[in-house]
Formats: sequence, structure tokens, C-alpha cells
Amino acid sequence: MSANPSNLINIRPMNLLDLNTVDSLENEVYEYPWSKKIIKDCILYQYNCYVAVKEFYLIGYIIFQIMPSETHILNLTVKEKYRRNGLASEFMELVINESKNRNSNTIILETRKNNNPAINLYKKYNFNKIGIRKNYYQAGEKREDALVYQKILSNCHLD
Ligand SMILES: CC(C)(COP(=O)(O)OP(=O)(O)OC[C@H]1O[C@@H](n2cnc3c(N)ncnc32)[C@H](O)[C@@H]1OP(=O)(O)O)[C@@H](O)C(=O)NCCC(=O)NCCS
Repeated sequence: MSANPSNLINIRPMNLLDLNTVDSLENEVYEYPWSKKIIKDCILYQYNCYVAVKEFYLIGYIIFQIMPSETHILNLTVKEKYRRNGLASEFMELVINESKNRNSNTIILETRKNNNPAINLYKKYNFNKIGIRKNYYQAGEKREDALVYQKILSNCHLD
């Protein structure tokens, strides 16, 4: 991320005042977006929800859940115009650090099999493919399998 102050990006906890903006970005990015209610519940149930803000504009967010032994990344989204700039990587560092701080030693996530940007990101962070979840995603009239990726925090290079 650039050190130029005009480009400064601030990552902070998501709150209910962000809900409408997060919901619009969710709808902008995904063909099958989460509902506003799901996003709201994640905030209310105190999942780990963060937004990235640049000059008052919300440009990305991450939602994950830290459970006693496992962290689950549920949503990771960067506005198209701001991609390839290291923001998702910053979010990944945040998940890794928070998981370690809470003694969670495994991170898991699901992704669509054709989502190459996401798959490359997870590979860069030494996630390994550990399986598939059948019929996990909506895909038109049908369902699509998800690839499941896992990172063991005590056993990797980038932790
Ligand atoms: C996937 C996503 C979060 C990546 O965000 P980003 O801020 O652009 O990612 P970064 O700039 O931190 O890139 C980190 C690494 O991811 C990979 N990557 C990111 N975008 C990529 C692309 N378009 N093509 C190939 N690899 C890509 C690269 O390995 C990259 O490392 P590099 O820059 O050293 O090559 C973003 O593309 C996005 O929001 N996509 C739509 C929503 C989505 O699919 N979320 C994930 C759901 S599982």
C-alpha cells in the first residue's frame, strides 16, 4: 500500500452505520450477493467484521469468525477499482494475526473453483486445498461445488 497520505487506507471494525455501503458493494461485486440481513447479523453477532476506507469511501471488507480452534473466513471483498493494490493481502494479515492472538491455529475458507484471483491469493498465503463442499454455491438454476482451503498457522512460511 502506498505511503502517500492521499492514498492512505484505513482498516477499522465494521459497524451498523456501514451496513448500507457494505450492502451496495456486496451487490456490485457478486452475482449472488449476501442479503443485507446476513451482513447485519454478522455485525450484531460480533463476528470479526472490518472495512477498508480510503478518503471516506468504503472500498473493501472482510468478515470472519474466530472459534476456539478454527477461524472461518466468510467474506472478503475489494471494490474492483482498488484491486491489485495489496488490500486483500492486508486483510489476510489481519485474519492471521487475530487468529494467532486468539489461539486459533487453523484458518479455513471456501471459494468457487473458477475464482482465480482468490485462489492465487490463498495460495500466496500458503493455504492448501483440503476438499470440496458439494453444491455449496448458487449457480443459476443449479448449485456449484466449493473448494475448501486451509492454512495451519503453526506450520507455514508467511505466519
Ligand atoms: C480476490 C480479491 C479479494 C483480491 O483482492 P486484491 O486486493 O486485488 O488482492 P491483492 O492485491 O492483495 O493481491 C494479492 C495476491 O492475490 C492474487 N491475485 C489478486 N488478484 C488477482 C488477479 N486478478 N489475477 C491473478 N491473481 C490475483 C495474486 O497472487 C496477488 O499477489 P501479487 O500481487 O503478488 O501477484 C478481489 O479480487 C475481489 O474482491 N474479488 C471479488 C470478490 C471475491 O471473489 N472474493 C473472494 C471470495 S472467495
